[in-house]
Amino acid sequence: MSSIDRRDIYKRKQLGDKLLAILKISQKINAERDLTSLLNLIAEEATKLMEADRASIFLLDREKFELWSIVTLDSEPIRFDARLGLAGAAALTGQTINVEEAYQDSRFYKEIDECTGYCTRSLLAVPLRKNEGEIIGTFQILNKKSGAFNKDDEEILEVLAEQVAIAIETAHVVEELKRHRGQLLEENSQLWKEVKGKFSAQNIIGTSTLIQNVVRLIEQISDSSVDVLITGESGTGKELAAKAIHYNSSRSHSPFVALNSAALPENLVESELFGIEKGVATGVEGRIGKFEAANGGTLFLDEIGDLSLLAQAKILRVLQERLIERVGGRKAVPVDVRIIAATNKDLEEEIKKGNLREDLYYRLKVIHIEMPPLREIPEDIPILANHLLDKYCREMKKDPKKLSAGAVRCLMNYPWPGNVRQLENELKRIVVLTPREAITEEDLPETMKKISTEMVDSKLRPVRSLKETVEEVERRMIEEALQTCKQNQLQAAKALGLSRSGLIKKMKRYEIKFKLRPSN
Ligand SMILES: Nc1ncnc2c1ncn2[C@@H]1O[C@H](COP(=O)(O)OP(=O)(O)OP(=O)(O)O)[C@@H](O)[C@H]1O
Ligand SMILES: [Mg+2]
Repeated sequence: MSSIDRRDIYKRKQLGDKLLAILKISQKINAERDLTSLLNLIAEEATKLMEADRASIFLLDREKFELWSIVTLDSEPIRFDARLGLAGAAALTGQTINVEEAYQDSRFYKEIDECTGYCTRSLLAVPLRKNEGEIIGTFQILNKKSGAFNKDDEEILEVLAEQVAIAIETAHVVEELKRHRGQLLEENSQLWKEVKGKFSAQNIIGTSTLIQNVVRLIEQISDSSVDVLITGESGTGKELAAKAIHYNSSRSHSPFVALNSAALPENLVESELFGIEKGVATGVEGRIGKFEAANGGTLFLDEIGDLSLLAQAKILRVLQERLIERVGGRKAVPVDVRIIAATNKDLEEEIKKGNLREDLYYRLKVIHIEMPPLREIPEDIPILANHLLDKYCREMKKDPKKLSAGAVRCLMNYPWPGNVRQLENELKRIVVLTPREAITEEDLPETMKKISTEMVDSKLRPVRSLKETVEEVERRMIEEALQTCKQNQLQAAKALGLSRSGLIKKMKRYEIKFKLRPSN
């Protein structure tokens, strides 16, 4: 074998050894998670692999146009003008720089040696590039033990520089994600506090015994998972109570899902409640139903008195078995849902009429909360009205307003067929329309003042019962509202704080005929 062949074999073996060493470094790199330890490791391995004395990794600070060291094996961290020195030249030109005698190169920045007390001879610097090509710094290696750095060293340092750049970029992304996550967690806990505050039992305003009993009951049952039935006229705070129960319970971090039973058509009962499996019919997308959506949390069945008999049967089954089956699904899915049902109907009456299953009624009525109508708790009207007035002034960015004693008296004497919702609407209107700070009787609608006076008079006259008086007042209010709103039922219902169906029911009860709207 000639001496040339022997040299060739030796060179190949050397290259093979180096590739093996790079592979080993790669394995270590993949195992290391901490950025500083990782960069130190790469610098140390590079020094060993290329038989050099020192290695440094510099990052480019684009704002100040400086290089600063994040790794300096055996020396102090440094920061210097990126336009100076060979490391700077590599970062600015994007070229690998290989110098045998640094002091003979005019670009060499001697002050760093003077400052660190080190004596640089040979130097190899390669730029650090992000994936998309942007230069973020330099990987530099100093003083090869024997002679100058060669072409193999250049290639090895370039490969390692790629690893360094990837590690730095990944670390930045991870840092950014952590910061984002921290911000989101902070925001989430802030919103959470707001939601909890907004729906706490303390937000059910009222010092009357009836309201305080409701608040106490809600606090007592919050931590259990018993089903609850909430009854009460329209606008008395049934949904407010349901949310207070949910957000005060251990289920509060899971969803509160509301289902308006009156708006549930017979043919959609199953898919709405239990969901539908994908591809049941051509083009059908799969989706989950209300029970699954509320899993772990609370399902609020609003207007339960309007639930079809088919839906009642389906719901009863789930309440008994705690399992649901999606439309077109083959297996039963367990669900853990607390049911809170609400209605403004007299459910016992609905059972008699055959509209409500008795077994469902008793199943839901484990705990029964009755929201009192506002006319039964007039002592709460001052605190409620002042609370709502403050709230709307704040929301609409108006100066605070005060209700005069006369206005409060008038509000207390009025029978409020639309309950707290109607009181809310009235106060919103006042906040929008009244520029003055003091709200007097004069700022209240004519009908309200008249009816309030009549209520006082009728209370003094014991000939009619309170129920009769209230009914008479309600009938007249509905007639007046319909007249004012030119027979537009939706507008009249809104003005009275009722739903349209609520208004129609009352019209039937009082035999108020629907007059055709005058044509234009
Ligand atoms: N005691 C109360 N304290 C403070 N706000 C109340 C109270 N009762 C009701 N409200 C407010 O009145 C409005 C109507 O309440 P909610 O929607 O809960 O009534 P509801 O009984 O569900 O009415 P409906 O039968 O028409 O659905 C809401 O804005 C609610 O916040
Ligand atoms: Mg409601």
